[in-house]
Amino acid sequence: MSDRTERAFAPEPREPSRRRFMIAGEHVILRAFERDDIERCYRWMNDPNIVRTLKSRYPIAFQNEIDWLERAMRVSDDERHFAIERRDDRTHIGNASIHDIDWVSRTAAFGLFIGEPSAWNRGFGSDAIATLVRFAFEEMNLRKLHINVFDYNDRAKHVLETHGFVQEGRLQKEFYREGAFHDIVILSVFRHAEEKPQ
Ligand SMILES: CC(C)(COP(=O)(O)OP(=O)(O)OC[C@H]1O[C@@H](n2cnc3c(N)ncnc32)[C@H](O)[C@@H]1OP(=O)(O)O)[C@@H](O)C(=O)NCCC(=O)NCCS
Repeated sequence: MSDRTERAFAPEPREPSRRRFMIAGEHVILRAFERDDIERCYRWMNDPNIVRTLKSRYPIAFQNEIDWLERAMRVSDDERHFAIERRDDRTHIGNASIHDIDWVSRTAAFGLFIGEPSAWNRGFGSDAIATLVRFAFEEMNLRKLHINVFDYNDRAKHVLETHGFVQEGRLQKEFYREGAFHDIVILSVFRHAEEKPQ
């Protein structure tokens, strides 16, 4: 796979271990989307194991996914989208987005999934969350992030709590799926702990 998202003009990073990529974690990098990501995105957005954790309900047509990807590749003031790649073999394993960015309040929402089943439970999701949060705080200068997660998504809640997210709210019986109404929990993290209400 080519290194087409690397930038020769990127500022010299503080840590030598991050030198090769613009946004790098320990095990993953976050890069811009490219047109040839479409097949994977289409497959993941039609995988019931992934869709179960998202608000999406209906099968996604290939053209819908092309439209989404075209949007994700455009520069936008209030959202940014990233492909998650493994650092070791540069395979595309998932997607991440920061959205609803409020540049005055310096807050945003985000979402993320590891779509490739072979990459689940191997630490990539955790590293992708840590990398995305660090980028949002240190490079985008945001001060607070939140994410909405289905209450039944124990794995996501566990990983987010590991990274300092706390439950800030709960939308009771908000979403109907598989014959029942489910709560959605709102988890958030502040850049500076002293901002967090006690
Ligand atoms: C949530 C998600 C990103 C985690 O990625 P991942 O690469 O599979 O997860 P990791 O390997 O980094 O970490 C898994 C952790 O969850 C734990 N875990 C796994 N299944 C669990 C469960 N049912 N309940 C609680 N914890 C669970 C593991 O033990 C591990 O914890 P540890 O690091 O403390 O040992 C991934 O599962 C995913 O993409 N899910 C679908 C999308 C989603 O839920 N998005 C919500 C936003 S995070």
